[in-house]
Amino acid sequence: MTDRYAVFGFPIGHSLSPIIHRQFADQTGQQLSYEAQEVKPDVFNEALADFFKAGGKGVNCTVPLKELAYEAVDQLTQRAKFSGAVNTIKRLDDGSLLGDNTDGIGLLTDLCTNLGVVIDDQRVLVLGAGGASRGILGPLLEAKPRQLYLANRTVSKAKAMEVLFSSLGRIQSSSYEDLAGKQFDLIINATSASLSGSLPEIANGLLSPNGVCYDLAYSEQPTAFVCWGLQEGARLSVDGRGMLVEQAAHAFHLWRGVMPETSAVLKELK
Ligand code: ATR
Repeated sequence: MTDRYAVFGFPIGHSLSPIIHRQFADQTGQQLSYEAQEVKPDVFNEALADFFKAGGKGVNCTVPLKELAYEAVDQLTQRAKFSGAVNTIKRLDDGSLLGDNTDGIGLLTDLCTNLGVVIDDQRVLVLGAGGASRGILGPLLEAKPRQLYLANRTVSKAKAMEVLFSSLGRIQSSSYEDLAGKQFDLIINATSASLSGSLPEIANGLLSPNGVCYDLAYSEQPTAFVCWGLQEGARLSVDGRGMLVEQAAHAFHLWRGVMPETSAVLKELK
């Protein structure tokens, strides 16, 4: 029987995950199916139980289900614990469910391996203090930036995140206004503002000459933040499609024990 995998989310119609995982499966010669399944939060637990009862092997969870997935699994990887969210569930041999979060490692792989961006000893700014931000702060701190600033419209949320992550490294919370006069080598947009075509209220001049901008969101057209980066003279201003492919590759590895090669898929999606 073919091993079954799926991505759950709402909405899910435009998910690129089935295309990505099917390409990984072809490339590595793995026999599996991967479908997108629309699942609303109120039926998530039921849908998950049904999927695994029917023999399913693994599930990816996307917006708005990652926090529910965190609650639903039996065991968590260390990185999922810190993220407070799960994007990959694997059914283990004893039937229990393992929850992982591959978003942060996906971002780091895209930034450092695919794009050649160095984080070690650099000044890094993360915009936004919601779930997306929480998923990437651990791996970012592990990459040893000289400074990591976390700025958010609601400053208390950035402060709470600072407290949560300070055991992993030095992190400073800030309002957008208090960033004035500072400069950063890498600015990452982890707000959901791009999804509505808007931008957080950040001043001009925050990006160092030859700095890099990275938007975790992606869309057909360049996002407002990617455009902002280009206007600010970024040497590179990109959206999160690379992260999407790389988080999928790490999920595939957790499930199948094989690391797929991502360059062909990346080329196609970009
Ligand atoms: P997610 O899980 O996708 O990160 P979230 O937890 O709702 O979603 O967080 C969304 C983030 O985007 C928050 O940091 C939010 O700022 P607030 O905490 O102040 O609400 C940020 N955000 C959304 N729209 C924004 C906008 N137009 N300008 C600035 N920040 C915005």
